[in-house]
Amino acid sequence: MTAVDAESRPYPVIAIDGPAGSGKSTVSRALSERLGVERLDTGAMYRAVAWAALDRGIDLGDRQGVADLARSLVITVGERVVADGSDITEAIRGAEVSAVVSAVAANPAVRAVLVECQRQWVAARRGGVVEGRDIGSAVFPQADLKIYLTASESERARRRPEEGADAVARRDRLDSTRSVSPLGVADGARVIDTTERSVEDIVEEVVAWL
Ligand code: DC
Repeated sequence: MTAVDAESRPYPVIAIDGPAGSGKSTVSRALSERLGVERLDTGAMYRAVAWAALDRGIDLGDRQGVADLARSLVITVGERVVADGSDITEAIRGAEVSAVVSAVAANPAVRAVLVECQRQWVAARRGGVVEGRDIGSAVFPQADLKIYLTASESERARRRPEEGADAVARRDRLDSTRSVSPLGVADGARVIDTTERSVEDIVEEVVAWL
């Protein structure tokens, strides 16, 4: 193989889905470091749109209005989350945003905008670790590897103390029962229960599947 071939070789696309508190962020961060590929937290994108809708007083029931907002918003998701120049990293994790983000994510027009951004993000990097709810099923059904993380309900609630068990359960119910791209185990996904496992152990298992 020539040097040019080696350089142009793409990275894998790894889809990581699962409910709130299943360990997606921890596992995908560790995996991206281990493999030297970038990671995209798509939940942060839905949270950024929800934050901006609240900030601008846009009625969440106005599907077109929220979709127009999603289209016009310049969102950067990395170690910090920035929307139209405002650093909203902490704000998007607050109770106000968590309470409404599932309604924003159930809006098909918003999903169309964000899914397109997610595909462009991966195309620009020629691969990456992408975490969310519909990555293996809808965004990248041809991903090189699809992982569905889960954990016991009590453990997931323990990992989200600021949100609370009832709110986490409600959000998961909404995310799993919406009509467009609901959370579920994608075809061909490997399921990992993270309840009593170390991050290192999980990363080793995933890397062995590549
Ligand atoms: O991963 P998270 O908890 O930060 O995601 C916030 C919300 O965004 C979640 O309740 C559902 C929604 N979401 C989605 O519908 N699709 C994705 N790919 C990622 C998140």
